[in-house]
Amino acid sequence: MESERWVFLNGEYKRKAEATISVFDHGFLYGDGVFEGIRVYSGNVFRLHEHMVRLYESAKSILLDIPYTLEELEAYVVETVRKNQLLDAYIRLIVSRGDGPLGLDPAECEIANIIVIVDKIRIYSQELYDRGLTAVTVPTRRNIPDALNPRVKSLNYLNNILAKAEAKQAGAGEAIILSSDGYVTEGSSDNIFIVKDDILYTPPCYLGALKGITRQAIFDIAEELGLPVKEEPFTRHDIFNADEVFLTGTGAEIISVVQVDGRPIGEGVPGPISKDLVTQFRKLVTVDGISAFPAEVKV
Ligand code: PDD
Repeated sequence: MESERWVFLNGEYKRKAEATISVFDHGFLYGDGVFEGIRVYSGNVFRLHEHMVRLYESAKSILLDIPYTLEELEAYVVETVRKNQLLDAYIRLIVSRGDGPLGLDPAECEIANIIVIVDKIRIYSQELYDRGLTAVTVPTRRNIPDALNPRVKSLNYLNNILAKAEAKQAGAGEAIILSSDGYVTEGSSDNIFIVKDDILYTPPCYLGALKGITRQAIFDIAEELGLPVKEEPFTRHDIFNADEVFLTGTGAEIISVVQVDGRPIGEGVPGPISKDLVTQFRKLVTVDGISAFPAEVKV
């Protein structure tokens, strides 16, 4: 049951209702912190180590000290999954700057707040996975790297939220966010790939995209399938002329985009390469990672 969820909070496991933080937490007050979204598939915490590495890189990038080693925090994540007895789940791992006085100065916060939530999530309906998503390019541009680097998975998601809101206002399911130079960067919470003549293309992260774990899994699967992947800038012109477009993310997983800015992509239905990638991805996610339930424990 939902109310029975265990939350890891600063070294202790608390029931959902007792898992509270101070209103003086600087993650709450100023979005000062970093986070990860991680999925559990049949008890396997998919590519957990890769997520942990990215979390610590994001934290280092914003001068935020995490009061655990990567291995210690990784173990707490696995234990929180185990305590919740969920074979299939979504993990939200949050590191905020911690409690401090009003005022931005991060030095005023003594120690980070560390939170691990394990729960269920559904970003898109099954119908949208079957039928494909409509997307629009939105007016809101992606943060520029020398303002707030999109490589940092920070608690600052207003750039992403505004993009998502603009897509929904336009009656679309997801936003495609352009860089200030008009290049395609990514979705509001997912990376983007296009397929043209059996070649996959995805924007280089320096344009303004999170270095996605799922994005990397597509690179690995494409290599096994003998599909070339090119990381190179592209624009709406390339999207409109693509054979297929799909988005990747821990929450979104892999979802086809069949219409962009009112224009059908390819045949206007999920394409064959996207489908092959989904099939292979489903096999990969149950084995590549860290098991939260040792073989002898049957959940
Ligand atoms: N994060 N780009 C952005 C801006 C994202 O927020 C996300 C995913 C991705 C995909 O990255 P990954 O494959 O590592 O999940 C790209 C949301 C919160 C999620 O899907 O969990």
